[in-house]
Formats: sequence, structure tokens, C-alpha cells
Amino acid sequence: MKIGIIYHSLSGQTKKLANLMQTELTRNGHEISLVELQTDVPQKGGSIRQQLNFQVTNLPDLSQFDALCVGGPVWAFGPSTVTFKAIQQMTDLKGKKVLPFCTMGFPLKGMGGNGCIKHMSTALKQKGADVLPGIIVPKMFHNFNLLLTQAALQSSADFKN
Ligand SMILES: Cc1cc2nc3c(=O)[nH]c(=O)nc-3n(C[C@H](O)[C@H](O)[C@H](O)COP(=O)(O)O)c2cc1C
Repeated sequence: MKIGIIYHSLSGQTKKLANLMQTELTRNGHEISLVELQTDVPQKGGSIRQQLNFQVTNLPDLSQFDALCVGGPVWAFGPSTVTFKAIQQMTDLKGKKVLPFCTMGFPLKGMGGNGCIKHMSTALKQKGADVLPGIIVPKMFHNFNLLLTQAALQSSADFKN
């Protein structure tokens, strides 16, 4: 499958996950495009409950992909504003499997991870996507690197036919 991994990462943690997912999915025979989201106005924080007065500037043409992985950090108990804005800017996702993913600082998924995936999934479904159960990787008090590796393996299991 041709899969786009489209992600936001402010401090590099979600980027690690995106890179590991790329490695695993490539190992399983998929063709991967990795896209780190950029914006016209730098974004260092905020919440999706505020007005998002910026644009994502490098969203690729999604019609080229059979499936997508879309992810970013948890911010303020939801998706980062950049990840969410990217989903809002996406065109029709009908017929595409989409895997939402996130990394988070707090130890429990209930401290933002679940809310993040829920918001992303709802927005992706509104675009017609066939949304997979998401992947959440928490950091504090966990072996973060091990969880990242497990999450990457999970992503490739999700796209096995
Ligand atoms: C503005 C801001 C808000 C955050 N809010 C949360 C939060 O609500 N819950 C949480 O677990 N982590 C929160 N974090 C921590 C990040 O989700 C975590 O460090 C993540 O792994 C960073 O990913 P990145 O390096 O790809 O940017 C927040 C970080 C920032 C910068």
C-alpha cells in the first residue's frame, strides 16, 4: 500500500514514533511518504478549543495515498493545534484507512491521550475516513522507547491485509 505518515512534532518525540512507523511499514512492503507538518505562523502551544488562526503549508495531495497515519503530540488534553488544523484542511478521505497516533507527557492515557484520539477520530470520520483504533504513547514513568517500538509494530499490524 502507498501510505502517508503525516505528523506534527514540536520537540521530536512524535517524530521518533513517525520514523519508527516508517521503518516497520517499509519492512512490511509498504511505500511510505513521511511528512512533518509546517505552518505559516509558528505554533508552540494552545488548544483546539481556541480559534486556529494559521495554516498548515505543506499538506500533500492525499489522493496519491491508499491509507494514512496522522499524528502529533497531546496538547491541553487534545490533539496539538497543528495536527488538528491539518485534519481540518484535508479533503475527502472516503475509502482510506487512517490510523491516528499521538505521544503524551503524562503517564495515563486518560490524561489527554484518549481525548486526543477521540477528537482526531471524529474529525477524520467527518472527512469520510475509515478510522482505526488509535495509538497512544505516554512518556512519564514508562519505558518510552520500548513503547514507541511496540507502537510501530502495532501500526504495521494494522495495515496487514
Ligand atoms: C503546549 C503543550 C501542551 C501539552 N499538554 C499535554 C497534555 O495535556 N497531556 C499530556 O500528557 N502531555 C501534554 N504535553 C506534553 C506532550 O504531549 C509530550 O511531551 C509529547 O510527547 C511531545 O511530543 P513532540 O516532541 O512530538 O512535540 C503538552 C506539551 C505542550 C508543549
